[in-house]
Parts: sequence; structure tokens; C-alpha cells
Amino acid sequence: MNINPISLNFAAEVSDIDVRSITNDEFNRVYEAWLTYGVLRIRRQHINEDELQAFSSRFGPLEEIPMGRLPESERAKIKNRYVTQLSNILKDGKPIGGLGNAEASWHSDMTYIDNPPPASVLLGIEIPEKGGDTYFADQNAALMAIPDDLLARLRGLSIKHNAAHTSVGKLRPGFEAFDDPRDAPGSVHPVITAHPETGKQALYLGRREWAYIPGLELDDSEALLDEIWSYAALPENVWQQQWQPFDLIIWDNRRVLHRRDDFNQSARRLMKRCQVLSKLG
Ligand code: SIN
Repeated sequence: MNINPISLNFAAEVSDIDVRSITNDEFNRVYEAWLTYGVLRIRRQHINEDELQAFSSRFGPLEEIPMGRLPESERAKIKNRYVTQLSNILKDGKPIGGLGNAEASWHSDMTYIDNPPPASVLLGIEIPEKGGDTYFADQNAALMAIPDDLLARLRGLSIKHNAAHTSVGKLRPGFEAFDDPRDAPGSVHPVITAHPETGKQALYLGRREWAYIPGLELDDSEALLDEIWSYAALPENVWQQQWQPFDLIIWDNRRVLHRRDDFNQSARRLMKRCQVLSKLG
């Protein structure tokens, strides 16, 4: 197994490995590399859902699909309750996965809950010829780019992270629409966090849309959020994943933001994802 950085200190390629037969020693090296680089890519992993689940669960316990929110007819079709499909493909007129073909704005996963998933593991199965690239932005580097005077204003501040909308801006089932970010439901996290495993500090922004800085007037919160976000994804701190079928990407939501380009609805894109609920005990 080889691990080589793709860009300086951020995003690495793991090669000469089959995740189905990874040894404990190899996994420990992968885990260390994931903490070091924030994003890992492993190409040519022709794995099924159970194998994706087995590999992902080495990072920690996995989140289950919210079966309770699915209609009975959909529940019956789920093959593996720990693997979510992201797709624009329609079957009998209905999408077979989430997010469709829309652009997903910068975010990290599920920051609107108190204990967001540390790792997300995404496998590309069907990839459009054009569009649908996924981008990652290093939030250690974003923090370093912030000028001292702004940094001083951020220390001690938090952000309320909106739970009601998806990363493509759709209202989730069970949530009411609102038009004031202060009314958005969701957890509050410090703007600057220390990584619980590496101790490194990072910006922790979640998503720009419907965010609010508690304690500030709405206009001041909006202006400060815009200022912070202007440092979140500077081109030199962004890595672009151009997918090939059976690329496997593992990212650290505590270290990076991600976003996705839209793509033509006439193309097919099918991805399978596991989310790790909490770090290994
Ligand atoms: C996401 O988690 O935002 C989706 C990433 C992707 O579909 O590439």
C-alpha cells in the first residue's frame, strides 16, 4: 500500500490496496493518513454495499438510513440500512437516491446536529462524462488565511447551523419553511474548533445558507458570515475530485468543507455513501 499527497498537506491518494482485504496495520496507516490529509482517494474499489459498509465501519459506528421517514414501499427496497444512495436516476418516475442533479453548495455533513459525523465515505458507481465533480476545502488552511483582526473578532463566537434544508437547498421532510435565519432550527457550534483527535484548529462553518451568529443583530451576523466565508474556499486551499467509476473518497468533516457541481439530468450519476456516527472509542 502507498499513500501519496495530492496537494501539500491536504488530500492524498492511497494506492495498491483492496479495501475488502485491508489488514489492521494497513487500516491504521489509512486512518492516520485520513487525520493528516483530511481527504483520501482510493481508486478502483469494485465493492458492493456490504463491503462498503464493512470498510466504512472500521472508522466508527455507522449512521442508519432514517427508515422511519421512508414510505413502506421504499423501505422494502433498501438492501443495506447503512448505505445511502445519491443519484439523479429515476425509476418508475421516482429518484433512486438523494440530491438529484443539482449543485450542492459548500458544507460539511450534518453540522446541524450536536455530534456531527466525523467521516463520510463516498463510492462513485456511475459517473457523468461532464459535471458532478466534488470539491474539498481545507479548513485548517482557511483559518490560517484569516487576518489577525478578524480572527480576534471570531474567538468566542458560535454559529447556529440550519437543519431544515439539504445541501441543494430543499426543505427536508418534517420541517416548516421560514424566512429569517434566526428561526432556523439546528445546533450551535463554535466558529473555530479544535479537532478532537489531532488538536489542530479549523474554521467550522457548516453551510452559509440560513446560518446565524447568536448574539448579533441579523445584519451584523450576515455581514460577518460573508466576511468569514470569503476565506473558506480560497482556490489554493481547494482540491477537485474528478470522479472515475469505483473511486472511493473518505473525508473528515471536522477538517474540510465539500461541495458538488451540478450536471445534466440526461446523464446518470450513482454514488453510495456511508456516514460514521462517532469516532472509534
Ligand atoms: C454531498 O455529500 O454533498 C454529495 C457529494 C457528491 O455527490 O459528490
